[in-house]
Amino acid sequence: MYKFTDRRGAIPRLLFATRVAFDEIIQRYAIAGTIAVREKFVRGAAAAGNESEKTMANKSLAKGPSDTCVLVTGGAGFIGSHTCVELLNRGYRVVVLDDLSNSSEVALDRVRTITGIDDDRLAFYEASILDREALDRVFTENDIDAIIHFAGFKAVGESVQKPLEYYWNNVAGTLVLCEAARDHGCKNLVFSSSATVYGEPEFIPITEDCPKHDATNPYGQTKSMLEQVLTDLYVGDNEWNVVLLRYFNPIGAHESGLIGEDPKGIPNNLLPYVAQVAVGKLACVGVFGDDYPTSDGTGVRDYIHVVDLARGHVAALDWMGGKVGTGAANTLGTIAGEPADDGTRRGVGIFNLGTGTGSSVLDVVHAFERACGKELPYEVKPRRAGDIAENYAACDKARDELGWIAEYDLDRMCADSWRWQSQNPNGYSTAAPIA
Ligand code: UFG
Repeated sequence: MYKFTDRRGAIPRLLFATRVAFDEIIQRYAIAGTIAVREKFVRGAAAAGNESEKTMANKSLAKGPSDTCVLVTGGAGFIGSHTCVELLNRGYRVVVLDDLSNSSEVALDRVRTITGIDDDRLAFYEASILDREALDRVFTENDIDAIIHFAGFKAVGESVQKPLEYYWNNVAGTLVLCEAARDHGCKNLVFSSSATVYGEPEFIPITEDCPKHDATNPYGQTKSMLEQVLTDLYVGDNEWNVVLLRYFNPIGAHESGLIGEDPKGIPNNLLPYVAQVAVGKLACVGVFGDDYPTSDGTGVRDYIHVVDLARGHVAALDWMGGKVGTGAANTLGTIAGEPADDGTRRGVGIFNLGTGTGSSVLDVVHAFERACGKELPYEVKPRRAGDIAENYAACDKARDELGWIAEYDLDRMCADSWRWQSQNPNGYSTAAPIA
């Protein structure tokens, strides 16, 4: 079996792991090819194969949160930790799997503090999604009902420099995760996708009907490819219940100031950069272009409070359980499968999670000035390669189907972000774990 736990390990070990994995993929393709030819003649994937080839039934989500255990991959990260808070607040049991490559276990201590959870309702496994043995352990030791899958590398620029790492971790890792999940009879999955799949959007506000366009970097490609992979999972086995959530620009932090975004090195994204200028760690905000066809010439994005975003995931679980919405396939790419006998959904649901409001770079800088109570120096620089002028969501589908709507405005996002940044100027790195 391939195992990829130690990415910082010696090169020979990496090569060996890669070779073993490659051999395995070749073998599987050979087997998969044979199966695919046979299955062509058996239409309807639910009916595909004989009895012995059928996989285990899916776990039921037709029950209350306290009886439901959710595996959160990447649960120690920015969006993951906030989602853990919302899940625990709703009464779910949570198992986090995170390799801590871009996150800190301190975040989970703080999730416990915020939610007042000091029992086994929150469990943690330090492991990569590429580690099949660790995944088997997680599924064996916990009765996982659903997965919210955040784990993945996410830096656009870095992905251009390190495509192999991005495809391995994000794509291969998700394949390993889904295979383990399927083998343990759990086919309920919420995937952390991105508005990046729309590329240069054909229209604004962007609805889920907006056609996908080629991503301009490997990070974006992994999101787009994984949307396809997860859709194909359902096509191949009608028991899968998949939701693809396309995030716009998540910012902000929990109102306690205990958890927030903690980027390594110099931030690439606007908000953490502005926050570090405000706290005195960086000198000046670079505004990437002021000649776009927007109100003030700077780029416009749909910033969404991370707590709103986290609640969108909880709403998605309700939807998957058939507790809200109609389940109609009313946008491009969605598939309304035949619901299970217990009323839970099957198929592929796609939802934008944004606010529906665009804010320019200067809007953000000025909102942050109001939050921190001082003027922030900024300097206009050339446009950043690959940026688009404007991008914001239509969120009607999430409102109508999930019963979810973003509540917090840009001022609130900046106020919460400032509280986190000013209380934790060095993120989690110097924070003592909370007893
Ligand atoms: N910007 C600056 N200065 C900076 C950083 C950014 O002016 O130092 C500008 C950008 O040019 C853009 C806006 O601020 O106009 C937002 O840029 P971000 O880097 O914060 O975010 P992006 O919209 O480029 O990308 C983000 C995520 C992606 C995700 C995408 C989805 O980083 O992962 O939103 O829409 F795919």
